[in-house]
Amino acid sequence: MKDIQNQDDLYLLVDEFYKKLLADPAISYIFTDVVKIKILEHLPVLVTFWSQGILGTGGYDRNLTQIHLDINKKEHLTPELFQIWLNHFYTTVDEHFKGHKAEQIKTQALSIATIMQIKIINQKG
Ligand code: HEM
Repeated sequence: MKDIQNQDDLYLLVDEFYKKLLADPAISYIFTDVVKIKILEHLPVLVTFWSQGILGTGGYDRNLTQIHLDINKKEHLTPELFQIWLNHFYTTVDEHFKGHKAEQIKTQALSIATIMQIKIINQKG
């Protein structure tokens, strides 16, 4: 099994990851009902985001935490939802990739999820 090497690898990763999220009724409603994502537009944004973090490219300039605080105002993003999100992410990475970057992307996901949850706890209004 190879490591994550380029943006095609990241596209495969986020595509497979979102298949799992959308197939799991415990979390899929956030992406279909609370926010109605357009998957074909959403996936390239995810690739740009992770490419910046993992491959050192630039290009992602939105406030990711604020985007999730806005979702949380519509529907509470509970610790359980974060755990489900992370479990699907870890499983998808492990099913397709092995190596330093595969470990790095899981660690980054956990760090970001932790920061988001702290900001959610502190969110007012
Ligand atoms: C409970 C956990 C989570 C849920 C339910 C969730 C849900 C969502 C939804 C519904 C969107 C679309 C927002 C929109 O288009 O307005 C989104 C965007 C996004 N999420 Fe999450 N998310 C979660 C955790 C995370 C974590 C931990 C990360 C990163 C490690 C992440 C990365 C992203 C990225 C990169 C986008 C694209 C933002 C953009 O359009 O610029 N999400 N998320």
